[in-house]
Amino acid sequence: MRGFAAWTLVALAAACVCGATEEASSNVVTLTKENYSQFVVEEPLSLVEFYAPWCGHCQALAPQYEEAATELLKSDIKLAKVDCTQEEGLCNDNDVTGFPTLKVFRHGQSTPYSGPRKADGIVSYMSKQKLPAVSPVSSENLEEFKKKDKFVLVGFCDELDETSIKELKAFAEANRDSLVVGLSHSDALAAENGVRLPGVVAFRSFDEPQVKLQLAGSLSQTELQKFYELESLPLLDEVSAENFMKYAMSGLPLAYYFVDPQSPTRQAEIEKLTEVAKAFRGKLNMVSIDAVKFGSHAKALNLPGDAWPAFAVQSMDTGAKYPLTDLGKDLASSVHAFLTKFVGGELQPSLKSGAVPEQTSPVITVVTDEFDKWVFDDAKDVLLELYAPWCGHCKRLAPTYEKLAELYSTDADAAKLVTIAKMDGTENDIPPHADITLTGFPTILLKPAGASVREFVKYEGDRTIESLIDFIATKGTHKASVTVPEAEEATTSSTVASTASATPSADATEHDEL
Ligand SMILES: *[C@@H]1O[C@H](CO)[C@@H](O)[C@H](O)[C@H]1NC(C)=O
Repeated sequence: MRGFAAWTLVALAAACVCGATEEASSNVVTLTKENYSQFVVEEPLSLVEFYAPWCGHCQALAPQYEEAATELLKSDIKLAKVDCTQEEGLCNDNDVTGFPTLKVFRHGQSTPYSGPRKADGIVSYMSKQKLPAVSPVSSENLEEFKKKDKFVLVGFCDELDETSIKELKAFAEANRDSLVVGLSHSDALAAENGVRLPGVVAFRSFDEPQVKLQLAGSLSQTELQKFYELESLPLLDEVSAENFMKYAMSGLPLAYYFVDPQSPTRQAEIEKLTEVAKAFRGKLNMVSIDAVKFGSHAKALNLPGDAWPAFAVQSMDTGAKYPLTDLGKDLASSVHAFLTKFVGGELQPSLKSGAVPEQTSPVITVVTDEFDKWVFDDAKDVLLELYAPWCGHCKRLAPTYEKLAELYSTDADAAKLVTIAKMDGTENDIPPHADITLTGFPTILLKPAGASVREFVKYEGDRTIESLIDFIATKGTHKASVTVPEAEEATTSSTVASTASATPSADATEHDEL
């Protein structure tokens, strides 16, 4: 889910592409893979920025961050930074997909930083983080407390119920950036709000104003989390870059109602669809989305993307897409029927595929419609590159990749054992049965030969021809290998190195990249 969610988010939010500077002595702690773990684990409360020196938003943040770091030294809250161009591993481990990414750490546990990016804002946000995550609630302050946010959660439990109190606190701590949590020990107040001890009431400024959680035993962090993730999402809210992550984290499929904000029927449709959303509560989430602004997202969900309203569901786990192709006469009843089939598992995901091409190059061009034919060709070790036409790393890799394919295809033995293939990941959906999580381009995977093998091995090495050959030779079932001809001896029809002729060719320039 993670990888997929990140990509969708990039589609919804504008990513930062930016310019470069360096700074001198600083109160911001620099972290590297050598000392990162010790720092975040030891510090009771710290803020870590994952950045790239070329990112403009990062540069704009730097002086503010520095000022906040100096100010927060007084409260013993440390601010640190990780340069993702130097510490790729740390940034991957932290699922950093955009710059800057800021995270609040407490003894190694992180939560996203969702505060302001100005010095005083950072100081105030981080100072609040030092306050207790759970506030005491009584009949005197409950009315006031309810209004603190759009969604406020109050736990009611006996003073002696240590388990419930501990679980509530752990839950509040884990969600302290996004959630206001209160605790009351009064059974009278609990009863007034419709629960027994221990119980939970969420007060909301949307949909039903009060929702309850009554468990058989003590409160549990897991149950509280589930309740929060479900009930804090309105039945039908408008989705944007700010709240998208909450939907992604919930893990439930997301149903999109694409609508032109100017449409005269929008309001009436939203009212009817809210009723439909209620019927599917807990099985999926439903949102409305600005079709004018995010029309490309409709296309990504395999909708035509040129007529509104439109409707589609996407699985947050696999990324599988289910566009509703016929809206019928009445949108809400069509959607209801469609979602009934969806939750009943009666719908096949829609798979976009490029047109089946003629194979004219040693690199096999795979499209979704021929995915199984080439990638699950069990006789062969199949190396598959998922690329995007706009991706610079992919373009740089292309000559190496072609050369690689040429080496295998012109070696009589290796040609029978190895396929070098590529697929345009923007034009082709990955079939769900392939179970590939696409986290970026290029992604290079090996499907080792053998009918019993269904897992892919991800390539993480250098993008050099030698390293790719070594990968195929060690991870492939056939252990097939070819030798790279020396650069000066490059040939247009290079076979295995030992037999390569010394004819100079246009390929020579390609070797400069190796
Ligand atoms: C971590 O290592 C870097 C590079 O050696 C150093 O600049 C930095 O001060 C260290 N940070 C901590 C917290 O020790």
